Amino acid sequence: MSCCRACSAGSVLLVLLVLLDLWGVSGHLGHHHRRHARGHHERPQQNITLAVILPETNTAYPWAWPRIGPALQRAILKINSDPNLLPNHHLTYVFKNSENPSGICSESVAPLVAVDLEFAYKPWAFIGPGCSYTASPVGLFTTHWDVPLITAGAPAVAFLDGIYPTITNTGPTHKKLGRFALRICEHFGWREYVTLMFSDNKEDDRPCYFAMEGLYTELKSINISLQDSVFEENKPPINYSQILADIQSIGRVMFVCCSPDVFRRLMIEFWNADLPHEQYVFLFIDLFADSLRSRQPWARGDQDDAIAKEAFQVQNLQVFRSRREVDLLQLQRAGLSGEEMNIIAGGFYDGLMLYAHALNETALAAGTRPPGKLISEKMWNRTFHGQCTDKLSHVSECLSPFTIQEQQGGVHLNSVWWLGWRPLETAAPLAFVGVSS
Ligand SMILES: *[C@@H]1O[C@H](CO)[C@@H](O)[C@H](O)[C@H]1NC(C)=O
Ligand SMILES: *[C@@H]1O[C@H](CO)[C@@H](O)[C@H](O)[C@H]1NC(C)=O
Ligand SMILES: *[C@@H]1O[C@H](CO)[C@@H](O)[C@H](O)[C@H]1NC(C)=O
Ligand SMILES: *[C@@H]1O[C@H](CO)[C@@H](O)[C@H](O)[C@H]1NC(C)=O
Ligand SMILES: *[C@@H]1O[C@H](CO)[C@@H](O)[C@H](O)[C@H]1NC(C)=O
Repeated sequence: MSCCRACSAGSVLLVLLVLLDLWGVSGHLGHHHRRHARGHHERPQQNITLAVILPETNTAYPWAWPRIGPALQRAILKINSDPNLLPNHHLTYVFKNSENPSGICSESVAPLVAVDLEFAYKPWAFIGPGCSYTASPVGLFTTHWDVPLITAGAPAVAFLDGIYPTITNTGPTHKKLGRFALRICEHFGWREYVTLMFSDNKEDDRPCYFAMEGLYTELKSINISLQDSVFEENKPPINYSQILADIQSIGRVMFVCCSPDVFRRLMIEFWNADLPHEQYVFLFIDLFADSLRSRQPWARGDQDDAIAKEAFQVQNLQVFRSRREVDLLQLQRAGLSGEEMNIIAGGFYDGLMLYAHALNETALAAGTRPPGKLISEKMWNRTFHGQCTDKLSHVSECLSPFTIQEQQGGVHLNSVWWLGWRPLETAAPLAFVGVSS
């Protein structure tokens, strides 16, 4: 027992030392240390410099540097320590912040730092940005420069329509979320009264707006008739009477994207309203499964708990990304909540590993940098077993699965039944869990 403990303590120490070494070689911009490679007399290695552009401090973003940095550093360490991968080359990176002084992703700061990085370092690839509004201008520049841009953020559907040919997305995109919603609607034969209900304050990176855009484009593709009901949850009071009026007149199948607290309040208001409750289904789009952190997502310890529990038993399905054992977990900096967001760190890790393999396949000669387009194409449509990615389709998106759970008094059932309006076979197993391709 004591021996084992000593062994594992030893390996932890080793990993720590190696990581510290890496920090020395490639830290933030302007903090480079010269490495004295005594005893190494091989031919000089050529540096492959990557330019990383991510939010430096604001960990509300799943792609914030404190979340992603450890994963990227680990990928770089792994690549540099593999003599079979990119021989005679040394991967290194420079980092720049995409935030404005208030810590918000800035669509003016990001392209400026991208230009600075391009001219100062001629990077072989850009890692990030992650916010959709910052990835857009940088993606146009990288197309112009023919440099691959690898991200596990930038989930908006616009990135897949062909004007950003240098972007490779190893994260879960909203197009995929939309396809999942499409399968649900097809499965249940829902073609009318489908309502996209979401919070959008038209500020920052508009996560619900972009998520709903993914649903909109996919559901429209088979002519499902769609309505929307938009509210601003950061400008209280939210007019629930208005939302209920919308529900009554335009909706039966409600896809809802907002914070778990607002969703709970909405369900309570719905339950208290004089409506034929059995005719409605609510699908809560919870991108990082925030609401499942608690076994009782309706509970807040206030006087509304009892009624909220009742309300959560209407057809209320939660759509979220399935948990994957992402072993990057240990690399998360202490004190960061939101481990579901690790899927994004996993996506960046995969993206970098994939890039290294694609680059290696071009049989790099010293002093040459292959065309970015060539590398990007080599990254697409290939099977790759990574942290999040199994296969990248030709549209270059990660196929990480979405999944769905029903909330019934806190028990996660794997079947759905339907009380009214459109009769369905009872207890039909959810054939679409983990839809791929
Ligand atoms: C590679 O980068 C390191 C710093 O990361 C620098 O010390 C070294 O001189 C560079 N090598 C070449 C060949 O440019
Ligand atoms: C990388 O490329 C070299 C040279 O073509 C090759 O020998 C090596 O097997 C490749 N490494 C991997 C991991 O595929
Ligand atoms: C959707 O509607 C358009 C125009 O009415 C029609 O051309 C198209 O075939 C329809 N698509 C599907 C999948 O029903
Ligand atoms: C809320 O919406 C209802 C229904 O549309 C409307 O009658 C009412 O005036 C609104 N209340 C506020 C405070 O805007
Ligand atoms: C992707 O691969 C499949 C077979 O694995 C092939 O049929 C398809 O044409 C490829 N797509 C692209 C864009 O290369």
